[in-house]
Amino acid sequence: MQLQLFFPFPSPSPPPLPQIPTLIITSTLFSSFFFFFLVVLVLFSSHQRRQPKGKILPPGSMGWPYIGETLKFYTQNPDSFFANRRRRYGDTFKTHILGCPCVMISSPEAARIVLVTKAHLFKPTYPPSKEKMIGPQALFFHQGAYHSRLKKLVLAAFLPSVIRGSVSEIEQIVLKFLPTWENTTINTLQEMKRYAFDVAMISAFGHKRDSEMKGIKQLYQCLEKGYNSMPLDLPGTPFHKAMKARKQLNETLRRLIQERRGNEKAGGGGLLGNLLGAKNHKVDQLSDSQIADNVIGVIFAAHDTTASVLTWVLKYLHDNRDLLEAVTREQDGIQRKIIEENRRLTWDDTRHMPLTTRVIQETLRRASILSFTFREAVEDVEFEGYYIPKGWKVLPLFRTIHHCADFFPQPEKFDPSRFEVSE
Ligand code: HEM
Repeated sequence: MQLQLFFPFPSPSPPPLPQIPTLIITSTLFSSFFFFFLVVLVLFSSHQRRQPKGKILPPGSMGWPYIGETLKFYTQNPDSFFANRRRRYGDTFKTHILGCPCVMISSPEAARIVLVTKAHLFKPTYPPSKEKMIGPQALFFHQGAYHSRLKKLVLAAFLPSVIRGSVSEIEQIVLKFLPTWENTTINTLQEMKRYAFDVAMISAFGHKRDSEMKGIKQLYQCLEKGYNSMPLDLPGTPFHKAMKARKQLNETLRRLIQERRGNEKAGGGGLLGNLLGAKNHKVDQLSDSQIADNVIGVIFAAHDTTASVLTWVLKYLHDNRDLLEAVTREQDGIQRKIIEENRRLTWDDTRHMPLTTRVIQETLRRASILSFTFREAVEDVEFEGYYIPKGWKVLPLFRTIHHCADFFPQPEKFDPSRFEVSE
């Protein structure tokens, strides 16, 4: 998912403040400062008062009222920001960023509690503009029965038994792209996005894709362009264009859904087929807009993430020549076998790429493309001996966990052998 984009990492340090003539400010400086100090004091003390007696908030600094630690977060390397606080305060610590009191979670056990075992106490939280753009009925924005039902249906579309049939079709996509990358300079991320999008289309719409696919691709690209823009819904803004594309995408998908509903044989598999299939069980019946929001949502979740990971795989292989040679030898071996046996790539071949698989695992760890996710406490929560007030954001820090030397010695080193399983 594109969660990192909901909470972008810092841009370079802000430019120095312009020089203001000293004479102008001297008369007002003292009174402004005094007023500011009073406001700060009042806010700070009211903030302190909100904590019930006997309840201990996690350790950490809330920084300045309102501003909190936002400036530090945006001017420091985010890895150091989190690692320093983890070192000072432990795995669970509090801070205050972008106007939100937050509890940072940097142990796998605690992250599991927030995301899995006590998930009902921590609701997903996204900016309303993102929810509008992806579709409010997509599973990411829900908890409870609806979320579990959707999650089961989505997972069922990506079971090995289901996707194994797509391997040779995916191979064809790669073979189509390869000649276009030869003897030329490419933007790796953009090309990986093109590739990942074509694969996502198979996963979403199955083997029997319709004539509508080209239109869907164009509308999706427009949606993606406006996704991280200012949520200003005025004619001409990227956000407005993206929302327009989103509406058109909905109409196209609804047409497709109606066609497939009306023609049992059309089936077509993929995620769409699965979500349509849910109508067989009355309790699971999904409306057209529930189906459309989830198809678009999963394409969003799958597309950019996969493209980013692939780009990092290429970068790490480029930087580690010995590994590149070893991975090439492994892939050459499989290619020779396919040629000898006069067949296409199969699922079983992909199960016989131990080094390539470890390179992907280490890339997922080292690059940690989704640094963290967000939840919000739905009530006052007792958490590992601490108190988390209702409404506070709770952020499991995946990247900090992946870069912790206790779990991954020399965490900055790209070393796929750490994923070797001892026999
Ligand atoms: C390889 C790169 C990927 C990474 C690093 C990644 C990471 C994540 C993370 C961290 C979450 C949890 C977000 C949260 O609960 O707040 C998530 C959720 C999700 N991802 Fe991915 N993802 C990747 C690829 C994919 C792909 C290829 C698909 C689809 C086939 C996908 C579908 C989903 C869905 C449906 C959810 C929501 C699950 C739920 O709400 O319970 N992701 N992903």
